[in-house]
Amino acid sequence: MHIILGLTMSSTRTLLFFFLLMKVSCDYGFIFNGFNGVKNLSLDGASSITPTGLLQLTGATSNTMGHAFHRTPLRLPPPSKPFSFSTTFAFAIVSRNSDISGHGIAFVMSPTGNLSTAISSQFLGLFNRENNGNSSNHIIAVEIDTIMNSEFHDIDYNHVGVDVNGLVSVDSHTAGYYDGGGSSGDGSFKNMTLASGQAMQMWVEFSSEDSKVNVTLAPIGTPKPSRPLLSTAVNFSREIFEKMHVGFSSATGPWLTSHYILGWSLTMDGQAEPLDYAKLPQLPRFGTKRDLRALVTWLPLVSCALLLLAVAAIALIERRRVKFAEILEDWELEYGPHRFAYKELFRATKGFKDKMLLGRGGFGRVYRGVLPSSNAEVAVKRVSHESRQGMKEFVAEIVSIGRLRHRNIVQLLGYCRRKGELLLVYDFMPNGSLDKFLHGHPPKASLDWAQRFRIIKGVASGLLYLHQDWEKIVIHRDIKASNVLLDHEMNGRLGDFGLARLYDHGNDPQTTHIVGTMGYIAPELAKTGRSTTATDVFAFGEFLLEVVCGRRPVVQEPNGHQLLLVDWVLEKWSGGSLLAARDPRLRDDGGEERSAAEMEMVLKLGLLCSHPVPETRPSMRRVMQLLDGDDDGVVLRDLSPVNMGYSILSFLQSEGFDEYVVSFPSPVASLSSLSGGR
Ligand SMILES: *[C@@H]1O[C@H](CO)[C@@H](O)[C@H](O)[C@H]1NC(C)=O
Ligand SMILES: *[C@@H]1O[C@H](CO)[C@@H](O)[C@H](O)[C@H]1NC(C)=O
Ligand SMILES: *[C@@H]1O[C@H](CO)[C@@H](O)[C@H](O)[C@H]1NC(C)=O
Ligand SMILES: *[C@@H]1O[C@H](CO)[C@@H](O)[C@H](O)[C@H]1NC(C)=O
Ligand SMILES: *[C@@H]1O[C@H](CO)[C@@H](O)[C@H](O)[C@H]1NC(C)=O
Ligand SMILES: *[C@@H]1O[C@H](CO)[C@@H](O)[C@H](O)[C@H]1NC(C)=O
Repeated sequence: MHIILGLTMSSTRTLLFFFLLMKVSCDYGFIFNGFNGVKNLSLDGASSITPTGLLQLTGATSNTMGHAFHRTPLRLPPPSKPFSFSTTFAFAIVSRNSDISGHGIAFVMSPTGNLSTAISSQFLGLFNRENNGNSSNHIIAVEIDTIMNSEFHDIDYNHVGVDVNGLVSVDSHTAGYYDGGGSSGDGSFKNMTLASGQAMQMWVEFSSEDSKVNVTLAPIGTPKPSRPLLSTAVNFSREIFEKMHVGFSSATGPWLTSHYILGWSLTMDGQAEPLDYAKLPQLPRFGTKRDLRALVTWLPLVSCALLLLAVAAIALIERRRVKFAEILEDWELEYGPHRFAYKELFRATKGFKDKMLLGRGGFGRVYRGVLPSSNAEVAVKRVSHESRQGMKEFVAEIVSIGRLRHRNIVQLLGYCRRKGELLLVYDFMPNGSLDKFLHGHPPKASLDWAQRFRIIKGVASGLLYLHQDWEKIVIHRDIKASNVLLDHEMNGRLGDFGLARLYDHGNDPQTTHIVGTMGYIAPELAKTGRSTTATDVFAFGEFLLEVVCGRRPVVQEPNGHQLLLVDWVLEKWSGGSLLAARDPRLRDDGGEERSAAEMEMVLKLGLLCSHPVPETRPSMRRVMQLLDGDDDGVVLRDLSPVNMGYSILSFLQSEGFDEYVVSFPSPVASLSSLSGGR
């Protein structure tokens, strides 16, 4: 084009015009078959180029992010001019220890090459809580996501999605490809596992003419499938600036995962140059379980030669085996990724030393630990459990819950099973349980109303999610302040869900063994022993009262009588001031009108939720609406101490609950010691 121009154009004006035209759509392109000695990438965060030539975006630490942008940004023509570009890259996601990996990689186009304000984990190093979803970002990304994040409506934990300005994908699909690259293939869909540790190739094509982004995935070496995995409409004239940086972003969560790019090519206005597979760097090999197994089979042979040594070795191994013995049954094999080795947990907690003890509750002791593999801080709960009854269902439930993420639920990372005990591994919550703030002796720092209200809303949103927003209904069964944990931002998170289920079947077939904590148990639960979402709502109501009043659900009167908190609150209300029930420590805040109104609303809601008639209690969705203030005002306004003027105790008695009430002292002791929280 240069030459033709030079020969035929004589007028300098036309020449200048063509020169400008050339500049906007100049041939831009590059190919990297491996990244050895590459200077044109700008790396930040955890990203680096390994000595073997891999571009490693993240890998050495958990909860980090890394970026790699080409130093020369794409120059795109003004919106009226058509343009297209095509890029392809080879990548691999290698999980270092467990088979869970996270969170993923994204191919990014961004007006800035500096995403240092983004955050890790589910935000993939692309956005943060403030700017996620903001149309002024002008960021287009293709996410390769190995975690199902309900917050962003992810479809599963192995998907590819097109993101425009935020992490709620415009379009997404389970990872895989339509068979039919080159000439062969029947067009059927073939699944792929992103976190398999195998290298894969992705093609991303942008064309402003049909306003489409096409994304195609295939195992490395497979010809490019002719049908793309995603063909997504994107309004380029709105989203794209003249200058766009192109590159990759990646982030890890608690699991140590290496995210690699092996090679990358990009071409403006044409097909991306194919990668030269022979030149791509090798992925590092990590010790796999198979290697370990091989070692175990070879060991006896070696021992034949060195009998004496072998005897000693076997004795040693046997001792370790007993020490680290676990129970693994066939039905558990499919939960492989969620199993932790006992040895790892043993090391993490320094052998379950007392100085690592965070607390003890009815269900067991909780230890703090640091996983040796990833340096992630965790809480390990040891639940003693002799019977195998209910265990299978329980493990199935915790594993399926462990797959989902919600910011108001304490993340369950996995479990381990030994004879007579179950170990549950959770994300570590630095601020401990809410209980300590409300009733601790001496109390931890007091929480102001804004903090309490935020915690309440958080717990409600977590519970709503368990009840209604997931494919299965999950009943928590033991909602109370000591099961609400606070993360580093003082968000409330629900912990220990479903654990009470393990103890549903008591040893004594004559009586139904009710599990829960006295004061939080709904009357119909005491009667039928059946947990439902309504019994959870009852406990949540008690929890609301507890947080506002700073008192436990069963109040010990100076004269030795026990009084239910609900009745106590109702008494204050009938006495003329509902707000008189609030925690004395909240008095100072109470001056402000808005918080007083909020406290009153939460108290009324607490009373409504702990209504003895289950049908009267609102659903969690309704509760959430009321807490968010988008209520028509009718439900709570019409409540009065008169129409709520029941006494739980008299209700129970009239319903023939005499034994329940009479047998207070003993169940109080046994139930609360059973689940006195962490
Ligand atoms: C790096 O960038 C320079 C200038 O932008 C370019 O001349 C060179 O070809 C680039 N190298 C690669 C490998 O892309
Ligand atoms: C990226 O932006 C942050 C603040 O937004 C700034 O502190 C940092 O120096 C920038 N990094 C580069 C490489 O420009
Ligand atoms: C989006 O970002 C712009 C610029 O940072 C900011 O002014 C605006 O308030 C943000 N919009 C929303 C809805 O957060
Ligand atoms: C492919 O993945 C989908 C979604 O996870 C699953 O329903 C389907 O059974 C898988 N198919 C095969 C052949 O693995
Ligand atoms: C994207 O895919 C669609 C459907 O296969 C195809 O019609 C279109 O030409 C593709 N666009 C590009 C830019 O490859
Ligand atoms: C794309 O965005 C531009 C600028 O905001 C707007 O004028 C145009 O109508 C949009 N096109 C479509 C198809 O939405």
